[in-house]
Amino acid sequence: MAIEPTPADKFSFGLWTVGYNGTDPFGGPTRAPLDVTHVVEKLAELGAYGLTFHDDDLFAFGSDDATREAQIVKLRDALAATGLVVPMVTTNLFSAPVFKDGGFTSNDRAVRRFALRKVLRNIDLAAELGATTFVMWGGREGAEYDSAKDIRQALERYREAVNLLGDYVVDKGYDIRFAIEPKPNEPRGDILLPTAGHALAFIETLERPELVGINPEVGHEQMAGLNFAAGIAQALYQGKLFHIDLNGQRGIKYDQDLVFGHGDLYNAFALVDLLENGGPQGGPTYDGPRHFDYKPSRTESEDGVWASAAANMRNYLLLKERAAAFRADPEVQEALEAARVNELAQPTLGEGEGYEGILADRSAFEDFDADAYFDGNGFGFVRLQQLATEHLLGAR
Ligand code: GCO
Ligand code: MN
Ligand code: MN
Repeated sequence: MAIEPTPADKFSFGLWTVGYNGTDPFGGPTRAPLDVTHVVEKLAELGAYGLTFHDDDLFAFGSDDATREAQIVKLRDALAATGLVVPMVTTNLFSAPVFKDGGFTSNDRAVRRFALRKVLRNIDLAAELGATTFVMWGGREGAEYDSAKDIRQALERYREAVNLLGDYVVDKGYDIRFAIEPKPNEPRGDILLPTAGHALAFIETLERPELVGINPEVGHEQMAGLNFAAGIAQALYQGKLFHIDLNGQRGIKYDQDLVFGHGDLYNAFALVDLLENGGPQGGPTYDGPRHFDYKPSRTESEDGVWASAAANMRNYLLLKERAAAFRADPEVQEALEAARVNELAQPTLGEGEGYEGILADRSAFEDFDADAYFDGNGFGFVRLQQLATEHLLGAR
């Protein structure tokens, strides 16, 4: 099928994704490091629109100013030559030994102050490069042992940090919003703000909640056994889907970071359908970058890296095409009607009706036939799922 990604699709990739050299806890690299210029050129050639990065992906932790600057110039030149943009930047507060107990929530106050300085410096770079989203993934913000971390104080320190960063971007006049990325565990035994729901609740405690949203990752919610598409629906409902990390995960286990679509394909279908068709009049619900945060498996050589990058975009576009066909199918529409999916949009109470009205309505209770629901009034949800399956398998 002729499906070609173009910059209008807004596909972006982390420098650390295609740049992953294969290191895992059991073995070292299986591939050579990739130069940033080469990465930008290859992604542009494949039809992507954006590149994202952590400070330490571009210039190694502890680089002197000249090395840092040289790498930034190299990135700028590659962006100018290809038209790729940097929509999002993030800070590495997890790799260097200093962050072994976290950054914003390390028990060690000097580490917390160092983490803040590292992030503030990186926000300046993000603004310089025109990024409008700043992701915060607190991979090391957590603990292995309950007595090692006072969670309430950790939340206070996280709040203190995000409030400070909010002051900074407002005072500097930067057009930047923050997106917290939840993850339940790995590398820490338990990570602070483990799911989208925890992060959404935390955001409401901040001084500038409007500046902060979430960057949920497919695999992270699925590591906790949660329904990713449903979590995204709630984030959209609350106006908090500031960014998204797409990848694949198969069940509750370590973070697999597979290609998007190579994990729970049903949920990927539901997600693309939601993002592309879930808005008013069937339009998109989300217009930000479709960001892939995956790891090309360490079994692959460099050609496999680019093939996997292309696979992410192709799977997204194939699912988009499948979801459009699903929505356009008259039998699906009829099944949705029969399943009364749209009836949920109708308020339960009549206009202006309160408890007095519903109490006076005999048809709601006294005359209501609840027995009709025993072996009757089925919803037909299984038929709907079978139609989705047939579209997904290309049988319709
Ligand atoms: C992971 C995370 C990271 C973050 C990245 C950007 O599980 O490793 O998903 O890849 O997305 O640090 O904040
Ligand atoms: Mn991940
Ligand atoms: Mn991620």
